[in-house]
Amino acid sequence: MSAVGFIGAGKMAEAMIGGLIERRYAEADRILVSDVDTVRLADLRRRMGVRVADSNAGLVQDAEFFFLAVKPQQMEGVLDGIAPLVRESHVAVSIAAGKALADIEGRIPRARVMRVMPNIACLAGEGMNVFTCGARATEADAERLRGMLQCCGKVMELPEPLFDAVTALSGSGPAFFAYLLDGLVAGAVREGLSRDDAVVMAAQTMRGTARLLLEGRFTPSDLAAAVTSAKGTTAAGREVLERPETSDLLERTIQAAAQRSRELRRA
Ligand SMILES: NC(=O)c1ccc[n+]([C@@H]2O[C@H](COP(=O)([O-])OP(=O)(O)OC[C@H]3O[C@@H](n4cnc5c(N)ncnc54)[C@H](OP(=O)(O)O)[C@@H]3O)[C@@H](O)[C@H]2O)c1
Repeated sequence: MSAVGFIGAGKMAEAMIGGLIERRYAEADRILVSDVDTVRLADLRRRMGVRVADSNAGLVQDAEFFFLAVKPQQMEGVLDGIAPLVRESHVAVSIAAGKALADIEGRIPRARVMRVMPNIACLAGEGMNVFTCGARATEADAERLRGMLQCCGKVMELPEPLFDAVTALSGSGPAFFAYLLDGLVAGAVREGLSRDDAVVMAAQTMRGTARLLLEGRFTPSDLAAAVTSAKGTTAAGREVLERPETSDLLERTIQAAAQRSRELRRA
């Protein structure tokens, strides 16, 4: 199989590369990375065994299927830099928040383009990856991408207009869940638990809850009801948590993140 490239070797690229190697989608030496940060590149090569390209242009010459894994603000410069080298045989997959397919296709007009919103849980093989296909991407391109993303967690294909919501919920979501968990842990520490024990208990509780929902055993409201007995401990906690201002806060959190995704699209 030809090499798979990553332009931008930051946190998300590392998470996805880890999945591809661990699930044996690709040998490490079939993965090619480029980045402006040469220290970072050397570190990735040492730890993961990936190959390092001398430049983004060099990467595009060696890898016909490549991910664009730079920050949204860095994308234009990267696309303009590689555009003269991109041919019809290239498949470019952007993971950048807010960058629309049409923008990317406009800058590298010969490439087949797709877009993915992954999340940081790809590091643990438990990512949520939502992808969408550009006008020139083929069914075979989509299947290849799906196979790669399955190495990093769950995969969904959705239309691009939903990507601001996807970015807000599953792209940014790990930060929101971590924040909520931190608050629950702080409460447990006040009640006497050690912080380390409380983090394990809260995270395992989050994982168990997630599994019950993903396996379809409960809807979220049925699950909450199943744990709540009248005048019990859960009911006492829910009385505080479910005040209208809290549920509004969570909704506004997602709306603010989606709004920022819309702004990045226009930037
Ligand atoms: N982190 C997440 O949880 C997450 C989730 C979903 C989607 N994403 C998306 O994933 C993308 C990457 O995010 P990240 O968190 O991995 O960012 P990151 O850690 O900052 O990685 C981006 C890397 O690209 C490098 N870079 C900058 N300009 C470049 C250029 N011209 N050519 C090649 N490399 C260049 C950066 O170097 P410097 O640091 O020196 O600039 C950095 O090493 C973003 O577009 C983000 O929207 C991230």
